[in-house]
Formats: sequence, structure tokens, C-alpha cells
Amino acid sequence: MDFLDSGQKFSPRQDQDWDANLQFLPASDSKHLEKKPGRRRKLWIGVGLLLAAVALALLTGLLVWHYHLRSDVRVKKVYIGAMGISNQPFLESYEDPDSPQFGKLASLVKQQLKLIYSKNSVLSRAFRGSSVQAFSEADGAKDSLVAYYQSEFDVHISQQASLDEAVQSLEPPSGGQSGPQGRLLLKPTDALDVNNVMSRALDPRMTRKTLFAKKVFNLHVKDSGTVQSPGFPDSSYPPNVYLQWRLRADPDHRVKLDFHTLILEDDCREDFIQIYDSLAPIESRVLTEQCGYPHESLSFLSSGSVMLLTLVTSEDKNFPGFRANFSQIPLTEQKCGGTLTADRGSFSSPFFPSNYPPKTTCEWKIQAPKEKFLKVQFNKFFLGNHSDQCRKDYVEVNGKRLCGSQPKNNVITSRSNEMTVKFRSDSTFVDQGFVAEYEAFVPTNPCPGRFQCSNNLCLNKTLQCDGWNDCGDSSDEDGCVCEASQMKCKNSRCKPKFWECDGFDDCGDNSDEENCVKCKPGEFVCRNMRCIPEKLQCNGKDDCSDGSDEAKCEKALVLQQCSEFTFRCKNGRCISKLNPECDGEADCEDGSDENDCHCGTRPYRSSRIVGGQASREGEWPWQVSLQIKGTGHVCGASVLSNRWLLTAAHCVQDSGPNKYSDASQWEALLGLHVQGQISEWTVRRNIRRIIAHADYNAFTYNNDIALMELDANVTLNQNIWPICLPSPTYDFPAGQEAWITGWGATREGGLAATILQKAEVRIINSTVCKSLMNDQVTDRMLCAGVLKGGVDACQGDSGGPLSVTGPSGRVFLAGVVSWGDGCARRKKPGVYAKVTKYRSWIKEGSGV
Ligand code: ARG
Repeated sequence: MDFLDSGQKFSPRQDQDWDANLQFLPASDSKHLEKKPGRRRKLWIGVGLLLAAVALALLTGLLVWHYHLRSDVRVKKVYIGAMGISNQPFLESYEDPDSPQFGKLASLVKQQLKLIYSKNSVLSRAFRGSSVQAFSEADGAKDSLVAYYQSEFDVHISQQASLDEAVQSLEPPSGGQSGPQGRLLLKPTDALDVNNVMSRALDPRMTRKTLFAKKVFNLHVKDSGTVQSPGFPDSSYPPNVYLQWRLRADPDHRVKLDFHTLILEDDCREDFIQIYDSLAPIESRVLTEQCGYPHESLSFLSSGSVMLLTLVTSEDKNFPGFRANFSQIPLTEQKCGGTLTADRGSFSSPFFPSNYPPKTTCEWKIQAPKEKFLKVQFNKFFLGNHSDQCRKDYVEVNGKRLCGSQPKNNVITSRSNEMTVKFRSDSTFVDQGFVAEYEAFVPTNPCPGRFQCSNNLCLNKTLQCDGWNDCGDSSDEDGCVCEASQMKCKNSRCKPKFWECDGFDDCGDNSDEENCVKCKPGEFVCRNMRCIPEKLQCNGKDDCSDGSDEAKCEKALVLQQCSEFTFRCKNGRCISKLNPECDGEADCEDGSDENDCHCGTRPYRSSRIVGGQASREGEWPWQVSLQIKGTGHVCGASVLSNRWLLTAAHCVQDSGPNKYSDASQWEALLGLHVQGQISEWTVRRNIRRIIAHADYNAFTYNNDIALMELDANVTLNQNIWPICLPSPTYDFPAGQEAWITGWGATREGGLAATILQKAEVRIINSTVCKSLMNDQVTDRMLCAGVLKGGVDACQGDSGGPLSVTGPSGRVFLAGVVSWGDGCARRKKPGVYAKVTKYRSWIKEGSGV
């Protein structure tokens, strides 16, 4: 669907008006105006030095004059603002900028602004003109409205800060009324009662010179509908545009905007959307700014009846864009605060899991019987960032403020039978909010029938001493008696014995990794088992002579030599950092370790396979179901790009009458969650080509890997996203947690799952695995599982991913489900094709 033709109200006149109003005044980027005097200054100083100190002094004087007093170094500054007017009812005709009513009121507003600026010497000298962009009802006040305007000033470059200050000084001190600004116009009948003026400089990214297409769309929210970026979903959004969608709800309603898809370029300096609690892009009313592929909740509410959505794009790297649904909700429907008297219960920030609206206050009073105390536990807590010392958005429990994000198991107790919880959001930047549970308890027994953690959390007793930190402070794993199959850590935790010396700190104090090899204290153990002094590790020199002392470093030193453990940058040089790719930091001199890093992220913050559990929709967006047409699911696969999938070679071998090697027999379902249920996110594709590894061995399962090319590209979406491919030197150490996913059998010989299953396993040391699997594991295979049994991949999971989360949270493909001895048997881990061994083969075959 063409975005201009989507049945929504679009005013071309508005469009023109917008162009006329906002000529993207280049001058607010003052830097380039500064250039000339700067260069001249340098030149003069050079001459001055040559001449004499006297001349230098003279010159300095000259420069001061030049820089500060010359009147031709001027900049234009644009401010976007809102004016509250209390003696004008809102008329429907104000929505149409062509109506005479709009024109009349706009000219009054412009006169009023001129008058206000005339009373300030800085403003009156610099003022050039204003334009009015829109009007809206003022919330909750009869006979009043808000005018949105833009004012342009022209000041000497040295005066920019005082101009900002002067503009801000027009605002009443923190929301108070400032009467005298109005009522000074000549004709008393035209007088506007101005109760509030607020303006902010326009974001310089919106005045980029390259922006050429500027458009405003006016939409009525009463009839819910959708907004989307131009071209969505068939093509990517256009370059260099600045688009605004003004959303208006009925009086006494909020606007609600829910994103269905949002995929932009990763760099917010280039492409971004913003949402405002206003009809104009006033910085102090911005609710969110998003770019890339956000992980947060993408549902937003306004405080009043208007909302503005903007999209700014740059020249290159254009992505699919967005689609969002809008609707309205009566203001009365707030559902927050009140008195809670039950023994236990829960409450949350308004509209959770949507983002809470701005300018909201809620208060809960919790009352328990006299003899009891109260505790509250926040299961989710996301309130902006913490840096403002909880002055903006916060939760206050019995007078103590919390903000930012809080750990999951945060429990607050009160030593009385009463508790007050307040929630407050200010006028900018919203977040998802919180969910809390409260409980009254007898002071002598805070966790009846359950285990009490040191942080007061109550847990099911079975979670105690199970080797996992369930309390959050590890107190459920302290002082445990270990079973025969377990080792006791120095900190007295119990861990499975086979985790000892697996190169991974399972104990938390590294005691399971101490005394593993015979190197002296203060020495480093090389992979080739040599011992070198610890201080030679990560010094940029290969002291082990296998490079292993320069592989797992925090700092990325450029090495003189590459080794089989070090990451090779595009420029051919190697660096010493462990797993540097896509970790969010450019480690190579040429930055190539961060190239092509859009992979491995999930749409939302989210925390069969045998022994697994149902996954959430969109949790594994690289998981594919490979199906034989007319038969159904056969194998899994992973999304590598919008065209290529990776699966197992044994999935595409002919077997009897079944021609599995024939691409036309297959279809791939991407973005699928439940078998047989096609959702709006699911994409079905035919297969154009299958490239099975030429050295696949059907007896040993060595090289059990294959590429599949789709017959047409897919548009990536919430539920379809590529997984990151590890470089050949990427390290997945034994003991590391990994996830397997698939619709395969949920027990050995059992039935396939309908909902996509997930299960957590660990990477298993290859020496241990070889001996467990009777030496059938080659060095092109990787083992993962749970050795006590019960968790594994199984029939139908083949070809699917073994996913490992890297340091920056991006997910890497460590393995491809290949084979096993039965499923989930004790001491029989699953065996996977080791993807690091096939990195260049994948590149050759697919270009990915
Ligand atoms: N080969 C099986 C398939 O075709 C998957 C085997 C994985 N088995 C295991 N125990 N991990 O689906």
C-alpha cells in the first residue's frame, strides 16, 4: 500500500505550509560558520610569532574584536514551542490550517509572541519571525487550547547561549501560571490569556542540509488505524526525509501507539523515530527516541489527546522501517493506585506492559492486619535511567525512592502493617514501568513452608542447593552438603564434578578451576600446557608459542603474529581480545570486528526438545522450520541473512523414495511459532538451491552442514532475524550456557512439538565428550547437553541452532543440531556441527 494513499487524512496544503515554515535552516549548525574566523586566526598567529611579541598582543586584540564584536558572524536559531491559551475554546476548524479561523488565531498568536519577545532585550534584538503549526485542546481545561509554533532568531555567534537562556526564562517556574504575559494587546477583544509558554531549540539532526522531503500527516485517532514508513513492508524507507504524523484523539482521551515492527539503521545519528507528548517536536516533550531494532516495549501513551511521531532518515543504509497501530483510550481509564487490603496481591505501573504515560502519579496504600508486616517485591522494574538521582520518574516505597532498573529479586519489607507505594512520571522519556507483588507476613515467620534468602525473598525449597543462584544473592546455594557426584567449591557451593577444570568459573570464586594443571602459582597455563609467568599474558607477544597467552585478553592489542586463537581483522592483522566480534567496541584498527553486526538480537526483552519448555513468540527469530511440501516439518535451520539458511547435511540426503536433496520438495517457514499456525509474521519461501557440504560423511556425520538459498529475499521482521556467525577463532568454552530450540520430538521415540521448544544446555569439553561417545566425535563437532540426562535435542530438531549469547548480548550460532545416542540419555550429550570450522565455507557458498 502506498503510504500517501492509505485512507488517512492528508493535507497537501499542510505539506506546503510545512515546507515554507521549516526551511531546515542550516545555520543552527554553527560550526561551519565558525570555520572562517578560526582559520584566519591561525594564519595571523603564525605571522605574529614571526614578527614580535608586541605584534602578537596587537593581533590578539584584533582577534578578540574579530571574534566577538564583528557583526557578520551570525547564526539563525529555530525554537519550537507551545503556548497555553486559556480564553479560547478549541474549534474543529482549527485542525485545518487553511480555514479562516486558523488564520485569524494564528496571527493573534504571532502578535502575542512578538509582544512577549519585545519585553526581553536579547530576544527583541534577535527575533526574526514566527509561524504557527497547529492547535489542540488543552487537556482538562474548558475554553482553552494550546498553540504550537516555531520562532526564528538571528544572533551573533557569541550570543547563542544567552538566547537559549532568554527563551527559557519565558517559562513559568515549574508549571506555575504566568498571567501577565497576555492581555497586553491593543484591542481588548483580541487579547489572548496566555498561561504558559515553553520552547526549545530544534534538534540539529532535523536541520540537516540533506533533508529534502518534509511532510506532515494529520490523523484522527478516533477511528483506530495504522501508520507506517513509506514503502513498508515491500521496500525500505526513502533516504533524507523528515516526516511527521500528528495524532489527535477525542477530548479527554489519550493516544495509544503500538508498534508492530520497527527496524531502522542502528545509528541514531542517522535514522531515528521520536514520539512526543505534543503536536510539535518540542524537546522537553519527547517520550522516546528509537533507532535500530529496539528490544524494549514499543507501546506508548500520551498524557493528553495529542501525540506526534517523527521519522528522520539519512542518505544510506535504509532498512524496512516501521508499522504502528494507533487507538484512543478514555482518560478516566487509568487504573492505578488505591487501597490494598488482601493478604497478598500484585499491582503495576499504569498500562503495563506498555510504557507508562508521562505526567502520571499513582499511590497505593497497603494495609495488613495489625500483627503482620508487609513486603513488596518488584518482578520487573524499568524506570528510565538512574543518572538523575530519581528526580524524574520514580517509585517511592515508604519514603525511599527507586528508579532506573532494579534487579529482579529486589524485596522491600516494612516493619509495620502499612506501606505506601507511590509512582510518578514526569513529562519526558517514558519506560516500561514495574510489576510488584506484595505479601503480609508474621514477623517471626516470613516464609512459611519456603526457604528465606538473605535478601528476604521466599523460594520453593527444591531450589535450595540445586547449583543455581535463585535468590539473586546466592544465599540459596550457601552451606550445602554436596552429593557424591558433586564437588564442593571453596565458597561451599556444590557443582557437578565434571564441571571441574572445564575452563569455566562455575563456582563463582573460580575454585573449580584452580589446581587443574601443574603450573606454579603466578604462572599462566598455555593451551599447549606450557607454563609462563602470568605477567607475560596479554603483553602483545606470543610467549606460549601457540599464541594462547594472547587470545583471551580484555584489551585488544594488535599482535605481531596471528595464531589459531586470535581474531583476524579485515586488514589481515590479529588482535588479542577474546571474541571481539560484534561486542559493541571497535577493536581492530579498521573497525572490521564490528562490521555486519545487525545479527543475533531479539525483538523484545525476554529473558521440544526433550526437557525443554515452550518459548515465547519472537524469542528465537533465526529459527526456521524446514518442511517437505504436503508432509510438514522435517528439520530445523537458522536464518543467516534475508536470503540464506543454514541446516544439517543429513536433512537434505535422499532416502529411499524421498528426494530430500531436491530443492523443489522443500519449503521454509520463517517467523513461525506454532506449527500449523501462520501468523502475520510468518513468511513461507520456496528453496532455490541446496549446497550440502561436499565432504559430508553419512556414516560418521562429519561435516553435517548445508546451506539453503531462498527463492526470494524476505523482509526481516520482529520474528525473522539473522543469528551471528562466529569467526573461526571464536571461543565457546566448555561449561558455557547454550540454548537449543526446535519442534522436534519431546522424548526419545516421542511426538514432535507444536509450539517451538527451548532448553538450556552447556558446552561440554571435547575430551570428555569423545570418551562418552566412544571416540565418534571429530574436531569438526561440538558437544552440548546436560550430563545427568533429561535435556537434549531429538528427532526433528536436526539442522536447528545451538545458540550462545555473546558478551554484548548478541546471539551467536555455535552449532547445528546433528546427532546423538538416543535422546537425553544420561552421559550422552548431543553432538553438533561446529560452526567455527565452517566460517569460510559458508562465506564461499553464500557470501554471508
Ligand atoms: N538426527 C536427528 C534429526 O534428524 C537429531 C539428532 C539430535 N539428537 C540428539 N540426541 N541430540 O532430527
